[in-house]
Amino acid sequence: MPVGIGLVAASFVDMIKKCGFSELYSWQRERKVKTEFCLHDGPPYANGDPHVGHALNKILKDIANRYHMMRGSKIHFVPGWDCHGLPIEVKVLSELGEKAQDLSAMEIREKARSFAKAAIEKQRSAFIRWGIMADWNNCYYTFDGSYEAKQLRIFYQMYDKGLIYRSYKPVFWSPSSRTALAEAELEYNPQHVSRSVYVKFPLSKPAPKLASLIDGSSPVSILVWTTQPWTIPANQAVCYMPDAKYAVVKCSTSGELYILAEDKVTFVASALKTTFEVISTFSGADLENGTCTHPLIPDKVSPLLPANHVTMTKGTGLVHTAPAHGMEDYSVASQHNLSTDCLVDEDGVFTAAAGPELQNKAVLDEGTDVVIKMLQASKNLLLEEKLVHSYPYDWRTKKPVVIRASKQWFINIAELKATAKELLKKVKFIPGSAQNAMADMMDRRPYWCISRQRVWGVPIPVFHHKTKDEVLINSQTIEHIAKLVEQHGSDVWWTLPPEQLLPKEVLSQVGGPDALEYEPGRDILDIWFDSGTSWACVLPGTDQRADLYLEGKDQLGGWFQSSLLTSVAVRKRAPFRTVVVHGFTLGEKGEKMSKSLGNVIDPDVVINGGQDQSKEPPYGADVLRWWVAESNVFTEVTLGPSALNAAREDISKLRNTLRFLLGNVAGFNPETDSIPVNKMYVLDQYVLHLLQDLASKITDSYKQYDFGKVIRLLQAFYTRELSNFYFSIIKDRLYCEKASDPKRRSCQTALAEILDVIVRSFAPILPHLAEEVFQHVPYLKEPKSVFRTGWIATSSVWKKPGLEEAMESACAMRDAFLRSIPGKNAAEHQLLKCFSRAHCQMLQAEETSSTSQLNELMMASQTTLLPQDPPAMPSDATELRGTFLINLEGGDIREESEYKVIVTPTTKEKCPRCWKYTAESSDTLCPRCADVVGGK
Ligand SMILES: *[C@@H]1O[C@H](CO)[C@@H](O)[C@H](O)[C@H]1NC(C)=O
Ligand SMILES: *[C@@H]1O[C@H](CO)[C@@H](O)[C@H](O)[C@H]1NC(C)=O
Ligand SMILES: [Zn+2]
Repeated sequence: MPVGIGLVAASFVDMIKKCGFSELYSWQRERKVKTEFCLHDGPPYANGDPHVGHALNKILKDIANRYHMMRGSKIHFVPGWDCHGLPIEVKVLSELGEKAQDLSAMEIREKARSFAKAAIEKQRSAFIRWGIMADWNNCYYTFDGSYEAKQLRIFYQMYDKGLIYRSYKPVFWSPSSRTALAEAELEYNPQHVSRSVYVKFPLSKPAPKLASLIDGSSPVSILVWTTQPWTIPANQAVCYMPDAKYAVVKCSTSGELYILAEDKVTFVASALKTTFEVISTFSGADLENGTCTHPLIPDKVSPLLPANHVTMTKGTGLVHTAPAHGMEDYSVASQHNLSTDCLVDEDGVFTAAAGPELQNKAVLDEGTDVVIKMLQASKNLLLEEKLVHSYPYDWRTKKPVVIRASKQWFINIAELKATAKELLKKVKFIPGSAQNAMADMMDRRPYWCISRQRVWGVPIPVFHHKTKDEVLINSQTIEHIAKLVEQHGSDVWWTLPPEQLLPKEVLSQVGGPDALEYEPGRDILDIWFDSGTSWACVLPGTDQRADLYLEGKDQLGGWFQSSLLTSVAVRKRAPFRTVVVHGFTLGEKGEKMSKSLGNVIDPDVVINGGQDQSKEPPYGADVLRWWVAESNVFTEVTLGPSALNAAREDISKLRNTLRFLLGNVAGFNPETDSIPVNKMYVLDQYVLHLLQDLASKITDSYKQYDFGKVIRLLQAFYTRELSNFYFSIIKDRLYCEKASDPKRRSCQTALAEILDVIVRSFAPILPHLAEEVFQHVPYLKEPKSVFRTGWIATSSVWKKPGLEEAMESACAMRDAFLRSIPGKNAAEHQLLKCFSRAHCQMLQAEETSSTSQLNELMMASQTTLLPQDPPAMPSDATELRGTFLINLEGGDIREESEYKVIVTPTTKEKCPRCWKYTAESSDTLCPRCADVVGGK
């Protein structure tokens, strides 16, 4: 909770109430405005506590929304949650332990639902504490019946267009979760240890073109290398690269002949701790029509086949191909009509088809071991070594996955890619590089497996024939199911008897209620399909396109992609106009945040403080928000105590500026006391000129979602231009002139404008502080809410390029003067300026003055303008010379102009009232003060 500006903290709550903080979203929805800004909230997963990753994302969104709202758009922002899926199901089941095995599908679903609901409530209240503007009573949830029904209709539209099909293919399979997984549900473990093997495949029929190279005196084998020996039993072929060079070598240890890529000869020989003598080399294409023998099954032939996925970076340049266990292997198999039979079941153990030695053995454990022993026994194993490499793990169970062919539902991405990529070109990406990254990720994805063998999700709405391999799905069945789901939620799929899930017309065609030939399928949809269809369920209007999607970079292969693909499939357009992509949050030194490292930062502890408040002080929501805004969110974002302390320091400097502004507009009423711009002090006009420049740069930065730049601009302005320059100069006018003196009103006019611009500039970032300030602006009328009164309004008359030039030259002299008296009081000096350009006359009409604008700027005792050098230089004088640039001809040409300043100690005494050295003696007031005091 921030400490109030002259307020006690307790009234923070009052302040939030007074300015209508929580009703802001509904207030702005009711406004009659023409433009709408729609930011579509990517639903966070309804699992676990709110964390800094959420804070980063939600606060960025809120800053964007508040900015657009202040600029006059009606904001459409409906927060949502992704509520289904394996992570929740696994968590619920693991909490139940042994008991979980006896649960029915509906029992699991009920527990999963209440688990998700509890997580949602925790997250929602955190998001509210962070100041996120939304109607928190009207959010979207992927487990709502109405949402699920829309999703089922989208599924059918895609099915109807032939974009969704059922097929037998290799997919990532998690034995520990007993389900297929999508790429986005994998985590790569870089420390995974595999037992890699070099294996011989004896050549059974040399390729015709190679016959001459091999004399038959020694056995010849193809060499392959694999990190997954358990896939060898499923081998159907060995692939080569037709364009590459291969070699026949003689092994100095065994005397046998081996075939491998020429480039790999040295590497493989040294791995096998032997030497190879190259007998001859040939082109990969010459391997055509050759075959070898399966290393474990002597009567099985493994053909040599060309393939372009073969790489030379790893292995031998000859690739063991098991179509059931690799996506690329599978496509080779489809081209060459190879068997894709899978010898591994849902639990990741070998089936009976793998043979008695392997049956029931887990492929990643004992199964691997037995395969290696079998290779040894068949004398085809050349080497086994441990390999540490990056390997996919189930993101929830943290156990390794395998690739395994099974019957699943797929989206035909190939069909959608060209259109999707074309549409992507018209989307604005920030940063721009994310556009290609997303297109690349889409390119790398051959198909999208959308079925899961779990229960916590939306059912795939099809019926399977009880005996034949046929499915039942049509517009009538879908409409019937969607209506049921809309009313009662997707539980009906598990609770209603099958005959009620079918409409009467269809039921009678498929055996009627008593002899129903079909049963409901037991697969559910991938949660990326759930969330990917959110555009259809949440976005407003007929257009259903958001102005902005804003998520972390992991969504380039996740939600951004599933949203684009489903939207392109159904209606050939992108669901977003702009996509902003941010990095991840990391610990202070750039390390991952993890419980084991103890560097996890709980956003609630940031706001309210930890157990030991001396170590974890309460920073308040605005510190969290400032940290988000000032970070370079387009790369990784680091967070730790020093970042938070720095943010707090920054805000406290900003508060000092605001306190000065608020204090000095007390007693000022802009309506009656303002001074017209042209009558203002030149300095005050100059500061307004700088202010309009700042305002336009800040607005541009918000437009680009570059909030870090907003903060940098703002900080530079209030430290450099205000605190160090303007405020220090005008203090005398503010504190010592008569309250109603036009000179004082002139700078108050500027201060009121500065206050307004600054508060609006940071309001989207620090809404609490902005509202707090507004409660304290003396002359503001109700409603005292910065968010209900629009964006920064600058006046075109503030823009004065000519003035800027005059001020810059005067400031150059001022800087030279201040540099010449380091550590001394400028007021104890007087200046003689041998410089009489029009600039200076604008600031001082008299020859000598201690009250002119020029003298105020110099903060000196008095300033004298001389038309030429004085006849004799005073003995105690310092002469300063320099140049500054002046603009000629509208700023196109810049010319150096010289100046000379003579500095001498003052001859006057310090006025007891204003402390300027302008008095005749130390116990009399200076003429100005005498006037002010006398006038009272
Ligand atoms: C390989 O076999 C195919 C089909 O039998 C044949 O058309 C082709 O000419 C053969 N290639 C070589 C190099 O023998
Ligand atoms: C593919 O292989 C199967 C069995 O292995 C065979 O019955 C079928 O005729 C083959 N098809 C083609 C096009 O070669
Ligand atoms: Zn005085």
